[in-house]
Amino acid sequence: MKVAIIGQGYVGLTIAAFASKNHQVVGFDNNVENVVRLNTGISHIEGVESADIAAAISTGNYVATTEVKDLADAEIVVIAVPTPLTKDRKPDLSYIDSACRSIGSGLTSPALIVNESTSFPGTLRDYIKPLVEKYSTDKIEHLYAISPERVDPGRTDWNQKNTPRLYAGLTPKASIKTREFYSSFCDNLIEVSSPEVAEAAKLFENTFRQVNIALVNEFSQIAHALGISVHETLEAANTKPYGFMKFNPSAGVGGHCIPVDPSYLAYMAAGKGVPATFIERANEVNLEMPKYIVSRVKSDNGGSLQGKSVQVIGVAYKPNVADVRETPAELVIADLLAEGANVSWHDPVVESWRGVESSELGGSEIAIVVTLHDVMDASKVATSAPYVFDTTGKISEVRGL
Ligand SMILES: NC(=O)c1ccc[n+]([C@@H]2O[C@H](COP(=O)([O-])OP(=O)(O)OC[C@H]3O[C@@H](n4cnc5c(N)ncnc54)[C@H](O)[C@@H]3O)[C@@H](O)[C@H]2O)c1
Repeated sequence: MKVAIIGQGYVGLTIAAFASKNHQVVGFDNNVENVVRLNTGISHIEGVESADIAAAISTGNYVATTEVKDLADAEIVVIAVPTPLTKDRKPDLSYIDSACRSIGSGLTSPALIVNESTSFPGTLRDYIKPLVEKYSTDKIEHLYAISPERVDPGRTDWNQKNTPRLYAGLTPKASIKTREFYSSFCDNLIEVSSPEVAEAAKLFENTFRQVNIALVNEFSQIAHALGISVHETLEAANTKPYGFMKFNPSAGVGGHCIPVDPSYLAYMAAGKGVPATFIERANEVNLEMPKYIVSRVKSDNGGSLQGKSVQVIGVAYKPNVADVRETPAELVIADLLAEGANVSWHDPVVESWRGVESSELGGSEIAIVVTLHDVMDASKVATSAPYVFDTTGKISEVRGL
């Protein structure tokens, strides 16, 4: 099948790498630099090997493009564009809108259009379908389906092949075609009764994580006040074989999903007049963690950070990825600067952030570990400053959450 994937980022390129083993894939993206790089066989996404992209190019099964005309005769179109929040934390569907414009105007024959971008229930039926139809110059009738993406970038044990995938078509024909496409590279497909159930399930999965992370972050503060180890307590609770799932305390949540998706659910709830109190409070607790961490570091260091040198170690939002979107490190740095500290950061995976290069490990009076990548030597991190505060729970010999 000829498959067009709109957006060649974390989700779209990951799908492209799997689908191009059996299909002819066109990777459509409006980032010219990435498209040029992809066409030379270089991947910009962790977990997608350059060798796989280069191999697919050499067999004629992959090409990246910025040209709408290359979508022309695609049989399957997958939407994998960002769905962030606006400044006032409302769903921003502008990328979906522009993807629909390209799809509507680019397709020249009937196709199955599958949305993988995360959004609120009703997005496929009430937003994507009408938009594609609006922009379709030839008024072609397409099929529509949703199959929310569950990829966890950097993770190898669960991937496109073995992670169960939800899906639902707007019509039975769309569902059948969706199953046919995804079963070519995914082992476990689960059909649900409507696109809205699949859209809501994706939002609830990430809300579940957001709320549980907030709960354990709050508990870490309670445990510290009680003078007990949060990590030992969590390990103890985790010996219960049922009814408990362990989450770890941290500097907060980051990335494109956990800090964003629950707000899509809250937005829908507000529209229906239903309170989403857990989501709102969980968001607040997670966003307050950097302040709590800086206050702990401050109190351990004579009650003031004025003029002290502090290195923030690991600025990616999670280990082994270079993704700094919504990273809690940003708030930690902002709070340290507000306390008058001289702040530097070190991250061998991120390397460059906002035009600043990562500094060498060490050389500061204080270090705060926000993210510990596998390539970092924990013992060197533990001795990188006279005082080290670990938020990851991975360096037992220093102070931390
Ligand atoms: N990253 C994850 O771990 C993850 C997991 C599950 C679901 N999701 C969801 O998948 C969607 C995509 O996320 P991502 O992480 O891949 O984002 P990303 O930012 O890594 O990639 C998106 C790509 O889309 C391109 N793009 C934007 N607008 C476009 C347009 N109109 N036409 C063509 N290309 C366009 C961008 O240039 C970028 O390369 C989001 O809805 C996200 O919430 C992400």
